[in-house]
Formats: sequence, C-alpha cells, structure tokens
Amino acid sequence: MDSWNRAIMDKYCKEYDVGIVAFMPTQEDSLHGAELTGSGLRIHTNLALQDAELNPDSPVLRIARAGETLRGPVPGDVHTVFVHNHSSYRPVVTASPRHPEMFGGRYRRLTLVVQDCGYHDGIRRVLFGTGPDFWLSRVLLLDSMSYLSHGQLAHPLDRLIMVDVDDIFVGRSGIRMKPDDVQAMLDSQSRLRQLVPGFTFNLGFCGKMLHTGSEEENAGDDALLAAADQFWWFPHIWSHKQPHTFGNFSEIVHQMTLNKQFAEEHHLQVQHQYAVAPHHSGVYPVNNRLYDAWREVWDIRQTSTEEYPHLYPAVQRRGFVYKGVRVLPRQTCGLFTHTIFIDKYPGGRQALDDKIQGGEIFQTMLNNPMSIFMTHLSNYGNDRLGLYTFESAARFVSCWTHLRLRTEPPDRLADQYFQRFPEQRDPVWGNPCRDRRHLSLWRMAEDAAVCQRFPRLLVLGPQKTGSTALFTFLGLHPTLLASRPSPDTFEEVQFFNGNNYLNGIDWYLNFFPVPNNDSVYLFEKSATYFDSDVVPKRVHFLLPDVKLVAILISPAARAYSWYQHQRAHQLSAALRYSFYEVVSATNQSERSLRQLRNRCLEPGKYASHLEIWLRHFPPSQLLLMEGDQLKDDPVQVMQKVQEFLQVVPIVDYSRLIEYDEEKGFYCQVLAGSGHTKCLGSGKGRHYEPMEEQASQFLKRFYFSHNIKLNKLLKRTGKAVPPWLVQELSNVPGG
Ligand code: A3P
Repeated sequence: MDSWNRAIMDKYCKEYDVGIVAFMPTQEDSLHGAELTGSGLRIHTNLALQDAELNPDSPVLRIARAGETLRGPVPGDVHTVFVHNHSSYRPVVTASPRHPEMFGGRYRRLTLVVQDCGYHDGIRRVLFGTGPDFWLSRVLLLDSMSYLSHGQLAHPLDRLIMVDVDDIFVGRSGIRMKPDDVQAMLDSQSRLRQLVPGFTFNLGFCGKMLHTGSEEENAGDDALLAAADQFWWFPHIWSHKQPHTFGNFSEIVHQMTLNKQFAEEHHLQVQHQYAVAPHHSGVYPVNNRLYDAWREVWDIRQTSTEEYPHLYPAVQRRGFVYKGVRVLPRQTCGLFTHTIFIDKYPGGRQALDDKIQGGEIFQTMLNNPMSIFMTHLSNYGNDRLGLYTFESAARFVSCWTHLRLRTEPPDRLADQYFQRFPEQRDPVWGNPCRDRRHLSLWRMAEDAAVCQRFPRLLVLGPQKTGSTALFTFLGLHPTLLASRPSPDTFEEVQFFNGNNYLNGIDWYLNFFPVPNNDSVYLFEKSATYFDSDVVPKRVHFLLPDVKLVAILISPAARAYSWYQHQRAHQLSAALRYSFYEVVSATNQSERSLRQLRNRCLEPGKYASHLEIWLRHFPPSQLLLMEGDQLKDDPVQVMQKVQEFLQVVPIVDYSRLIEYDEEKGFYCQVLAGSGHTKCLGSGKGRHYEPMEEQASQFLKRFYFSHNIKLNKLLKRTGKAVPPWLVQELSNVPGG
C-alpha cells in the first residue's frame, strides 16, 4: 500500500479502534529478515514447517482450543514466520522448521500467526504467515475477527448437527445392514452422545423395501425395527418414487398413506413432522402436490434439501418456507449410497480423514450454526463409514475447538434456524433451466419447450403512466406474445410482488403460452412492480437477462391520475377529500387517508425505486420511456421499444395504431374495418385540471426526488424528459 493510503488507513484504525487481520505472502523468496515497515517485526518467507501448536495463553483463541500439537507438516507448501523481540507481539500459533538446520539451528519454535497488541502504533492486529490451505487458519480468522472487534463479530459457539440416515430399507442385497451393524449403530450413538448431547440417528424409511435383502440383511431390518424406539424416524415415499414424476395428487397421497400405515404397523416414532423426498424431488424446485400431500397425510412442517438455491457453492445454501413447510439447508459429508468400503473411498482413506480433520466436514460444522448431514443405509453396513465419520468428526471438533455440538429434533432445529435467519423465510425462486439438477427434478420440464416460457420483457409501470396502452401496443406486434390475463388482479399477473410470488414459478409460467417458434418474445406487464422494493431482487434471480421498461411522467400528474382513478372506483377517502387534502395529509391523519396519500405519492419517488432496480440490473437492460411521448407519439415510441428489444421484424406502428378524435388518444386500428379499438373508459379519463394549491405542494414535495432522478439519468446515460427539465427549471419557494 502506498504511504498516503497507508497513513489514512492507520489513522482510521487508531481513531475507531479497528483491528487489522492480514495474511502475509508466503512464497516470495526474497523476504528473509525483512522488517515490516516501522514495526520491529521481521518476516521470513518460503519456509516449510511442521508440528503446529496453539499458544494456550493467547487471548485471540475463542473457537480454537489449545492443547495438542498438530503433528506432521503444516498444510500448505510453504509459510512465513515472524521474528520479534518486542512485548507488543505474542505468538498465536508456533511451528518447528521442517529442516532443523534452518536459521543455523537457532530457532526450535517459530511464530506462524502473531498477535500485535498495538503497543507500537496503537493498532491491534493479527498477522498470518499461513493461508486458507491450513484449516486452522480458517478457525483463527473467525477468532481474530471476534477478538479484534471485541466480540461484536462473534457468533455463539453452539453448533447443532443432525444426521439423517436416508433410505434405511432401500438398497440392493449386499450393501444392507445386518443385525451386528444395527448393534454397532446403537453403540456408536451412545458414544456420540458423550460428545454431542442428544445425538440420535434420524432414520428415513420407504416401507415397500422392507425385507428385500438376503436372509441376514432381512434380520438386520428386523433388528432396526426392534430398536425402533432408540431412533427418530421420518417418512419418505412408500416406493422411493420421485414426487415430480407422479401423474397426479392422489397418487402421491396414496403412496404416503401406505408408508404411514407401515409406520403404524411397526410402531415407528414419526414425531417431528419432518420428511425428505427422494433425490430432493419436489422439495426444490417446489412441487405443490408434494407439499400439499405432506400436509394432508403427515402434517409435515419441516424438510431439508441441498438444492436451494443451488447445490454449489455449499456456503450459500439457505432455507425457506413454502406452504407452511420449513425447508432447511442440508449439507453433504462425502458419504453417498456408493461409499461403502474405505478402500474404495474416492481418494482413499486419507481423503476421508482429510475431510474430517479440518476439511469439508469440519468446515461445515465450523461455518454453519446448524448442519443436517445426509447419509444412507449403505454407509452403516459393511465398513460402517457413517459411524467412523461422525465419531471421528465429533472427536476432532472437541479436540481442536470449544464448539458445543448438540443434536435437537428437526422441529426444534427448524424453530431455531428461522429464529436465527428470519430473513430467509421468504423464498427467492431461481430458474430451473439454469441448473441441470433442478431441471431434472422439475415437473414442468415434461414440457420440452418450458425453458422458452419465461418472459423476456417486463413492463414495470408505475401505475397510471400509460402502462396499459404500452401493453396493448406491444401485443399488436406479431412476435411479441403477452401473458394471459389473471382474473384476480385486474388482468395483470402481479407475480413478483405480494403473495402470488409464494405460489412458485409453476404458477407464474402457466400464465404464458407455449411459444410455437424461437423468435417469439414473451412479455408481461404489472404496473405494481416498479415501486415494490422486493421485486428487483426477485426478478433478477429468476430472469437475470430480462429487458425492463418503466414509463415516467411527471410524478404530480401520476399522483393526480391515481387519485382520479380511486374516485372513479368510489374509494371513500378519495370521494371525501380533495386532492390537496390527500397529498398534504400528515401521519396524524386517518388511516384510509394516509393510505391513499401513500399510493398517490410513493411511486413517484422515481429515483429511489430506480436505484433498487439498478442495484440488480445494468442500465442497458432498462428502458425508461417518456409517458407523454407514449401518449402523443406512440408510433415513434414503439419504434424505440422494438430497437431496444431487438425484436424481429421491426413493425411500422403507423399501420397498427392511430389517433382517435373521440377518445383523444391513440387506439388500435381494426384491420379492414376502418374502425379503431380504444382502451376502456378507465384509461384516458376526463377530469378537472389539478388545483393550484396541490400543484404547488407537489412541486415542493418532489423537488429533491426529481434532482436525484436527474442525476441518475445523467449517470446512466439516459435522456432527461421534458417534464423533468421543466420541474427543475423553477425552484419551488417556501
Ligand atoms: P388518465 O386516465 O388519468 O388520463 P395506466 O394504464 O398505467 O393505468 O395509465 C393510464 C393512463 O394512461 C391514462 O391516465 C392516460 O393518460 C394514459 N394513456 C397513455 N396512452 C393512452 C392511450 N392510448 N389510451 C388511453 N390512455 C392512455
């Protein structure tokens, strides 16, 4: 860092007591005995080290537990060490040189991670001479953040883990559990409870597969049933068939009912309202039949999946709630149906041990407050890799960390998960066509053209800017195909805002026709999208490439049109109060008046809403249309829209729309008849001009918003509409 920036950063850190975590370069040859500027701390790079040890007296340690020496080479090829003789520096991790002759044999222990107490320059630091290849540095990174922030960046040490053993009766003969495997599982469960209070294997069953192994394996099934009350149980589908492949709802219900009868017959304790579907099918992408059947047959309230929003990257897995079922994120642990024997484990025993000892499994427990691991029947027969994995992982965690592992039943797990992450409750739907796994689990993929059914254009509104006229004109184009009208929401689909979103994307796509060729361009208009804060993120998640059109007219004119619209719909507040009384209502005014005021004023804060859209979409995907031009010269406007959409063919709209004297607006030309078809009486109303008092009030009200809009338009290279130029040309008084 150059000295100027460095000085600013140091000043900032000193003034606000902000600590620094830094990772030193490890490979550079040249840095031997180099002093870190003005610190009295020297570094030596490019060293091979072994036998790392945590300093038990280091106050940095919080998750990390000092005690054992990590025998053997320190992971990562080479490292950097710190040499110091000032009381400001204290070792956090030390290690020995791998070649004793290093430094002429002077140092037996070298400092690999150092704490700087800040006595030199008032800045507290933790400096790492090792990188993320060494698993301990990930633990120490969390500890350093917690230490330097005085605990503000620290999460509780509790870690909930649950191990699902899926398909407990599903598996070909030769890989199933035998009676002594069941006993080993019970013994392991007891041992695990010493390290993980409450630990109980959670067994998932498909009743149809009972007794489908060899004689000894069938005896294993019986042993499991005999020990049923020692475990937790959760249902699958009776025949292990994937829910998205069922033809209808009653078929799923029937399968679940058979499994339920099986559970009753064998006294399986299915008490936590938890279920899992084969291969995540129906859980995500969501299949409403599965969720409805779960609720109907079992009253299921929680499930888990690895697929939301995607399998990878694992750290981004999340939960959500759909139809009252809480979907928890699930983790992988390197055990799959085919991982049966240690010598056949991909990468050999070392690979599994690495996962446990600081690798994937350890990191999963470290980074997630709650982890649900999925394993299978086959991991508990033969080499019993499931037992080995979890016992070893629990031991490793308790040896190297102060994390408090615990198991809670799935219903309590779900309670805690969504208490901790309430913002995850609302799902954000992705496009299954962009994830091969999702596509293979999606019921709608039966329709080979389903991926062409997503809209490529959204008209966002806002309301009363001419959005219906634009929607109608777009629909006259031969390759632009509109969504079907929704009977519930004034013809608009209104999917991305409000509760419709919770119906899922299958519901949404059913509003779109199946295109009969590739050039078809589907579109939708919901004028409520523009000013809803949640919509841009949701749209981006589902339709990242979609083109967006928003129409801007003077926000005051928009507000007035909305007011007139409400009067025409006999809204009592609009009939009782003048427009001025509405827009100037205060927060002490009655509720219905405040609500009307907000609907009049809020959408017109254009810049604030557009900023949210621009957080998710580049300006090139957004067309801002001049509403006045749409009214006065729609032929020209439609030319621009077609260019923006790059749609073919480019159509001359002067043949499709013309000015209708009677209506006072442009209307659709009815081919061959010489007549026009105009929008209904609710569009293009005749009303008194706005009262002067209201007009002055709104000039002042929108002034600052309009200034922001002007800046935004300039910043994004968009044209400034004439109404805005005019609004900004005279600064309102008072
Ligand atoms: P008014 O009825 O207040 O004049 P929206 O469809 O977004 O609700 O917008 C309605 C507004 O569209 C109307 O508001 C009208 O001014 C405007 N508009 C623009 N072009 C139109 C057209 N060709 N026919 C009817 N209204 C049109």
